[in-house]
Amino acid sequence: MKLDRTHAESLLGRIRGLKVAVLGDLMLDEYLFGEVNRISPEAPVPIVRVVRETAVLGGAANVAANLKALGAEPLLIGAVGSDPAGQRISKLLGRWGIGGEWIYEEPLISTIVKTRVIGQHQQMLRIDREDDVAQVGHTISAPVSSMLESALSQASALIISDYAKGVIGPLVMDEVRRFCSRHSIPWIVDPKPVHRELYRGATLMTPNTKETSELTGLPAKSDAEVTAAGRALMENLGLSGLLITRSDKGMALFAPHAKDGADHREPWMIPTMAQEVFDVSGAGDTVIAAFGAAVAAGADWADAAMLANAAAGLVVAKVGTATVTAEELLAHYHEQEAL
Ligand SMILES: Nc1ncnc2c1ncn2[C@@H]1O[C@H](COP(=O)(O)OP(=O)(O)OP(=O)(O)O)[C@@H](O)[C@H]1O
Ligand SMILES: [Mg+2]
Repeated sequence: MKLDRTHAESLLGRIRGLKVAVLGDLMLDEYLFGEVNRISPEAPVPIVRVVRETAVLGGAANVAANLKALGAEPLLIGAVGSDPAGQRISKLLGRWGIGGEWIYEEPLISTIVKTRVIGQHQQMLRIDREDDVAQVGHTISAPVSSMLESALSQASALIISDYAKGVIGPLVMDEVRRFCSRHSIPWIVDPKPVHRELYRGATLMTPNTKETSELTGLPAKSDAEVTAAGRALMENLGLSGLLITRSDKGMALFAPHAKDGADHREPWMIPTMAQEVFDVSGAGDTVIAAFGAAVAAGADWADAAMLANAAAGLVVAKVGTATVTAEELLAHYHEQEAL
């Protein structure tokens, strides 16, 4: 059920420096923290006086940060606008030591920014800045497609972090499918249900239960429902494996080697390892980063899922950071061993 310490240590050792491509929508997650003391005289709304602001990598860029924290070398592929938010993303990537070689800067698009306004420890408003998806897709799909080969030819696996904001489309996915099948590169998708048809033939997918429901039209709450929906999804899209994340219920892995000799149609239910839960946002990014890195390292998919589950269990206990480091995971396995 759990990876033992030596096994986890060797897996993390193999992940170190391993190149993993990440393709998807890059975003900037901005936070404005303030005080609320009065109601506006202009309209019946509270006034937030901003006292602090911060910004972190979001979307596919957060998956890349998670890979880096785990010791892997993310090759990030996506697009930003020629604007201050795009520059902020570049700066943050630089701080993480993540290269921008495959980030296409396009003056005709705006960098995606999600701004949360937080007053008295409570989110009061979210302001999204993004362009029309079809317009973005039309503008960037050709240049992004043409960058894929040079990134993918170095990568041991590809993670697709799709938010359906314009990077992932038919042209890009045709290129992904062609290149990955020719070079036997595993590709793993964190899906947006509206793009279901684009994921046909993926090696693996990591939907949550809500996405699983929307992708299949089936309920996916109980164990039996998750089992049925997962099977339907695998068959429908011709996936080789599937990792459904189930929040406080952990994960379900559908894979040929999930359990010795077992029917691969029978999923392996993995309970969460979280002992404390403070902030669940971004846990899905940590899951696909750890799972993808382990798959890239050639790990058995059950071992990869266990590593991802341990990483998710640690990240939900953190406030304000959405990444887990290799050292934190190692410390966790040392603690487990001592029990
Ligand atoms: N409330 C929780 N209690 C315990 N573990 C949790 C909880 N929420 C998430 N996790 C852990 O994090 C993993 C991923 O969470 P979840 O299934 O919510 O993904 P997600 O919906 O894709 O997340 P995200 O909000 O990042 O998109 C779970 O499989 C589990 O291991
Ligand atoms: Mg998710």
